[in-house]
Amino acid sequence: MDRLLCCVTLSLLGLGLLQTNAFDVHVTDLANKTCIYASMKANFTIQYDTNNDTRADVTLQAPDSVNASGSRCGEGTEAPLLMVAFGNGLSWSLNFTKNDTKYSSDVLTFTYNTSDTKLFPDAKRQGLLTSTSHSSFFGAVPLNETYKCDHGDTVISENVQQLYWNVILQAYVQNSTLGNEFRCSADSPTPSPTAHNTTSATTPKPTTKPVDNPAVGNYFVSNGTGKCLLASMGLQINTSLQVDGKNIWTVLNIDPNTTESSGSCGNDSAILRLNDHNATVVEFNFLLKKNNFHLQEVNVTLRNGSATSQTVNSNLSLWDASVGNSYLCHKEQLISVSEDLHINTFSVRVQPFSVQNGTYSTAEECFDSDLNFLIPIAVGTVLIFMIVLVFISYLIGRRKSRTGYQSV
Ligand SMILES: *[C@@H]1O[C@H](CO)[C@@H](O)[C@H](O)[C@H]1NC(C)=O
Ligand SMILES: *[C@@H]1O[C@H](CO)[C@@H](O)[C@H](O)[C@H]1NC(C)=O
Ligand SMILES: *[C@@H]1O[C@H](CO)[C@@H](O)[C@H](O)[C@H]1NC(C)=O
Ligand SMILES: *[C@@H]1O[C@H](CO)[C@@H](O)[C@H](O)[C@H]1NC(C)=O
Ligand SMILES: *[C@@H]1O[C@H](CO)[C@@H](O)[C@H](O)[C@H]1NC(C)=O
Ligand SMILES: *[C@@H]1O[C@H](CO)[C@@H](O)[C@H](O)[C@H]1NC(C)=O
Ligand SMILES: *[C@@H]1O[C@H](CO)[C@@H](O)[C@H](O)[C@H]1NC(C)=O
Ligand SMILES: *[C@@H]1O[C@H](CO)[C@@H](O)[C@H](O)[C@H]1NC(C)=O
Ligand SMILES: *[C@@H]1O[C@H](CO)[C@@H](O)[C@H](O)[C@H]1NC(C)=O
Ligand SMILES: *[C@@H]1O[C@H](CO)[C@@H](O)[C@H](O)[C@H]1NC(C)=O
Ligand SMILES: *[C@@H]1O[C@H](CO)[C@@H](O)[C@H](O)[C@H]1NC(C)=O
Ligand SMILES: *[C@@H]1O[C@H](CO)[C@@H](O)[C@H](O)[C@H]1NC(C)=O
Repeated sequence: MDRLLCCVTLSLLGLGLLQTNAFDVHVTDLANKTCIYASMKANFTIQYDTNNDTRADVTLQAPDSVNASGSRCGEGTEAPLLMVAFGNGLSWSLNFTKNDTKYSSDVLTFTYNTSDTKLFPDAKRQGLLTSTSHSSFFGAVPLNETYKCDHGDTVISENVQQLYWNVILQAYVQNSTLGNEFRCSADSPTPSPTAHNTTSATTPKPTTKPVDNPAVGNYFVSNGTGKCLLASMGLQINTSLQVDGKNIWTVLNIDPNTTESSGSCGNDSAILRLNDHNATVVEFNFLLKKNNFHLQEVNVTLRNGSATSQTVNSNLSLWDASVGNSYLCHKEQLISVSEDLHINTFSVRVQPFSVQNGTYSTAEECFDSDLNFLIPIAVGTVLIFMIVLVFISYLIGRRKSRTGYQSV
């Protein structure tokens, strides 16, 4: 059991006096050999509900001094874990997996303490809250190489947005020696000079072929007595896959013919779950506040063989309309679920609450930026023109009547 325990040394970056909002951690094993090295700058933005039903957000920076004693090198089937604790009950952790040639991060966890009234004034829910993300912190990195990324990268998980930059990280370090540098794609837009085959023939090109718009599907959710949620829309998932350390965006249309809808209807929240048997589950969570509803959360689960990835954005405020009406938007819209996953929506009509007779109620159309911008300008121009016209004809009329009187 002792062999599972690890010693952790921790060094502070820079001159100690400098506030760099970066931490620098070596995780070492019993033989005092480094197994994980991490240095990065990070900002965390946390949203929380306050007692007066508003949402507040707080941004904090990772300090240069952290406690990494919860980390471990991992042995046997146990995954290596990098865990840093700081401040009052705050912690951040990342565990790792590897195969024969590559390693990657698995689950990212951020824990914060809303009982801390200094940091989270007026928080409604108090206690230790945890937000996790399965979206890869970095792509697959060759074993014995050090991942480096100066560019910022954002990870969005439930109620927390995490921004990282100046990242240097290696897990499964051998002989306490960091390996060659493996740059993130954001830092090196051109193929890295270490790549052997840099001829254009072997460089994967992003797919630029135009993609068909998805078919619009009609979906509903029923309760015991009838349809309680109606939705129709075309959905297209645009996700970035890591291929050899490069981000390749791929587009996937949801086929209504193979998609089943399910969900639940509540008094102030409703869920629509679309399950495309090809591999995708998209869940829409609607909330009712006062007299309006809106789309609050979207949760996308992508399956590829036995691998699943889940991406959630719980901080949306889209598709807003009054209760008793439906929301309608013909134009294409974008829902940003994470940095690496967007949804393009087409011809959306939804009514998550107060469905009468299984049919849509009056539609509230989305703001069409092109038209709505022009209408007031057009109306204003016409009004001004008419006022000027009336004024001129009044002046002409007056002059005519004066000359008329004079001639008599
Ligand atoms: C581990 O190594 C560091 C420096 O290499 C040294 O300062 C520290 O005392 C060592 N710890 C143990 C337990 O041997
Ligand atoms: C990190 O957060 C601090 C404090 O809120 C802010 O001043 C700084 O600009 C942020 N850095 C970045 C890169 O967003
Ligand atoms: C709600 O509370 C926050 C923080 O305590 C405060 O800034 C905000 O003005 C309050 N809003 C209302 C509507 O009372
Ligand atoms: C990483 O940690 C999460 C829970 O924090 C766990 O579910 C997952 O299995 C771990 N990954 C590995 C490879 O052990
Ligand atoms: C959370 O904050 C409260 C209030 O500051 C404190 O009493 C408690 O010990 C903290 N919890 C942890 C796990 O640090
Ligand atoms: C680690 O050291 C061993 C023995 O000194 C050597 O055989 C091995 O190649 C080294 N591994 C790396 C990645 O440097
Ligand atoms: C089911 O939904 C309909 C339409 O919204 C509503 O009138 C009815 O009361 C609901 N029934 C139950 C059991 O909730
Ligand atoms: C997918 O997202 C990428 C990155 O935002 C963008 O460049 C690309 O045009 C998008 N593709 C579609 C079909 O929306
Ligand atoms: C769905 O099925 C209908 C009728 O069977 C067919 O006309 C349509 O092309 C199908 N749509 C897709 C996207 O396969
Ligand atoms: C996202 O959807 C999956 C599958 O439907 C579910 O297991 C998971 O709990 C959902 N996560 C959140 C945060 O809603
Ligand atoms: C599914 O996984 C296989 C093997 O890992 C990979 O080659 C393929 O590109 C993946 N497909 C998608 C759509 O992610
Ligand atoms: C629902 O349908 C019934 C019969 O088709 C009709 O009598 C009733 O007026 C409808 N109610 C509403 C609210 O449209």
